[in-house]
Amino acid sequence: MRPSNARRLLINEVAPRDGLQMECSFVETADKIALIDRLSQLGYAKIEATSFTSPKAIPALRDAAEVMLGLRRAPGVIYTALIPNVRGGERAVECGVDEFNLVMSASETHNLANLRMFREQSFSQLAAVIELAHRHGTPVNVSVSCCFGCPMEGEIDPAVVLGLVSRFAALDVQGVTLCDTTGMAYPSQVASLCRRVLDANPGLEVTAHFHNTRAMGLANVLAAVDAGVTRFDVSLGGIGGCPYAPGASGNVATEDVAHMLACEGHETGVDLNGVILAAAELERLVGHDLTSQVFRSGPRLKLNSPPAGFEEIRARATRMAEGAADAPREQGDTRIG
Ligand code: COA
Ligand code: ZN
Repeated sequence: MRPSNARRLLINEVAPRDGLQMECSFVETADKIALIDRLSQLGYAKIEATSFTSPKAIPALRDAAEVMLGLRRAPGVIYTALIPNVRGGERAVECGVDEFNLVMSASETHNLANLRMFREQSFSQLAAVIELAHRHGTPVNVSVSCCFGCPMEGEIDPAVVLGLVSRFAALDVQGVTLCDTTGMAYPSQVASLCRRVLDANPGLEVTAHFHNTRAMGLANVLAAVDAGVTRFDVSLGGIGGCPYAPGASGNVATEDVAHMLACEGHETGVDLNGVILAAAELERLVGHDLTSQVFRSGPRLKLNSPPAGFEEIRARATRMAEGAADAPREQGDTRIG
């Protein structure tokens, strides 16, 4: 049944960036490219291919330029990359990134830990990157980390997030992503902040980015949908996390989110079976089990064979039913037939 609030939702795959940045072992450049090429066929709106960060900070993505230049662009897919500073913006321009995904944190402590700058220093860097992007006609999205809480500071005042978003909106960015970097968000908080950001910034594209650190990821996705958010970051297999945020763990998994949204009647355009097959390949590449659940269990209508000896069970039940039908009826007998 299609619910009355059924929507067309846009899904962004962030496993090649948010996912792989957290992996201990280096995934070979050719494997990254092959993975992205495969993901390109699965119906995503955007794929975050890599990050133009310092290779010392994120060694797993030190091959950003090769990945960006090596991937095969599929029509209709926007290839983005994470950018923390002007140097990153310059590298991204050289590689022809379709859209810049700038990053800074709503938390001063996390911003320092992750980007080695105060928030105001980050903001000035990013303002310069936005100018650079505008000169090249490249759209800009800004991912704001720790919007729903910081693992080192605790609660983040929603006014801080709203203030940052409106300052970026004033610089003519196309969108912002509200990131729950370490899975601190809970549904009513998500609903409230998403509504406030949407109401205050009509025309701004708002994306929600959840990590499933405390098993609230899917509930938060639904809360954001109800609040009017139509864009979501997800990560294949549920891999991911910020190496500079204590306790970080994986994003909401693409297959879990796509499956749930389809059950709820929303249209995402994502090919769930293709995603599950891609997750199997990812599991091989990263060399450890994936945490996502639909990857293990399959979609809810995936049918399983009955247990061993089932035909015998059926035959016995049939014999009993026939015997019962032959038996003379007693008064008050309510058996069928
Ligand atoms: N790409 C590549 N190299 C970069 C770079 C970039 N975007 N920014 C800086 N560098 C290099 C500099 O050229 C310099 O190189 P050198 O030592 O060979 O001279 C070195 O890194 C230090 O530069 P500096 O500007 O002092 O950077 P920093 O050490 O203060 O680090 C960041 C700042 C933002 C570059 C770094 O903290 C970073 O990349 N953080 C990203 C973290 C991240 O991605 N987290 C997960 C996503 S939320
Ligand atoms: Zn993230």
